[in-house]
Amino acid sequence: MHATTPERQEKGRAPALAPSTKPPSTSASSSCCNPREAPDPALLLRTVLGSSAWTAGERRGGGMGSFAKLARRAVETDAPVMVKIQELLRGATNVMSLAQGVVYWQPPESAMNKIEKIIREPAVSKYGSDDGLPELREALLEKLRRENKLTKSSVMVTAGANQAFVNLVLTLCDAGDSVVMFAPYYFNAYMSFQMTGVTNILVGACDSKTLHPDVDWLERILKQDPVPKLVTVVNPGNPSGAFIPRPMLERISDLCKKAGAWLVVDNTYEYFMYDGMEHYCIEDKHIVNLFSFSKAYGMMGWRVGYIAFPSEADGFHDQLLKVQDNIPICASIIGQHLALYSLEAGPEWIKERVKDLVKNREVLVEALSPLGEDNVKGGEGAIYLWAKLPDNCSDDFEVVRWLANKHGVAVIPGSASGGPGYIRVSFGGLKEEDTRLAAERLRRGLQELVTDGMIQ
Ligand SMILES: Cc1ncc(COP(=O)(O)O)c(C=O)c1O
Repeated sequence: MHATTPERQEKGRAPALAPSTKPPSTSASSSCCNPREAPDPALLLRTVLGSSAWTAGERRGGGMGSFAKLARRAVETDAPVMVKIQELLRGATNVMSLAQGVVYWQPPESAMNKIEKIIREPAVSKYGSDDGLPELREALLEKLRRENKLTKSSVMVTAGANQAFVNLVLTLCDAGDSVVMFAPYYFNAYMSFQMTGVTNILVGACDSKTLHPDVDWLERILKQDPVPKLVTVVNPGNPSGAFIPRPMLERISDLCKKAGAWLVVDNTYEYFMYDGMEHYCIEDKHIVNLFSFSKAYGMMGWRVGYIAFPSEADGFHDQLLKVQDNIPICASIIGQHLALYSLEAGPEWIKERVKDLVKNREVLVEALSPLGEDNVKGGEGAIYLWAKLPDNCSDDFEVVRWLANKHGVAVIPGSASGGPGYIRVSFGGLKEEDTRLAAERLRRGLQELVTDGMIQ
């Protein structure tokens, strides 16, 4: 992949995938603010009639005549790539998706049966403890000890790992702080920084062969003054599917510790390991680990994740609690019960499903082969392959659109993750039979792309 220097990423981010969502500067708002200009009669009418005379678009601040300005924090945050892909899919017919990071299975049947029995209990409809249901937290502490060897961590249950990440950014970073991530990065983590005003995002490169982060670069960047506040990695990675070996993560941790930076490790794909590789976690007073129920237990829509944070870090919990209390208050109670019951099914239940993904991965690696063997990477863990498009395809979103419209298959453009000219292919969302059908389309599309280009 392209070497991604911090300078390039800071000053000239990957090209936007679609026209910017920045609102047009409205003549109404400027005439409103400038007393020397004659007032817009339509505005006067609205003032008389009140805001109910506004159109829905205007109320959102996106249309003509809005008095109010949208926050720069939000406006300058990247648009969510999955929403763009969903729009693309809505416009096309009969498209198979290898785009979204999902799994095809449902939560454990035994857990679903138990949920049915408690749905009408009054406690399910009330708020619960901000930190999470006590019985779930207890089960998670036990799971963290037994499976992840984390013994000095406390736990907070969140509405998924994405909300956990936003909680952490708000708890650990101030607007204006610098933070570190590595490209290709998880797009939602990048957006979490952007929308909280942490816009000094230093993006390091990953090795073009292994997709492992450039730790020598990290060593240099952590000597900056002021020191970056936080370093984050996903292991195994989204979108790369690469797995950071323990000695490398330990070195990253040591560098962060020495510099006084937080290290946030997103373990959303802890169970999605292949070819005999074993997931691990590391623990220290500057390390925070994130987890999710979404993929492991097929619980994407139930919104449950959790944060394992260092018990000994002074004030951590008190500050985290303020953020939690203002965003979800607590994760959905019924979702937390399902999580608790799913834990009873345990890792064996997950592994049984994950092992079948190996076939999907194989089928899709083959489908990507027109791009050349050396251009297809990842898939050591998680549910992703990361593939380089031919050199003349720097507009990866155009390729994605073409693949969907002409060949009926959707993938994610790499530029959403700071990797323009690449695509991310997910092998978790379809059963083997459907994966084969989608793979056939992908192969045909890529073969045509390589030999003839994007013929409409
Ligand atoms: C690395 C990573 N973190 C977090 C999430 C979001 O997980 P959740 O559904 O728990 O919010 C995803 C989902 O794709 C992910 O890939």
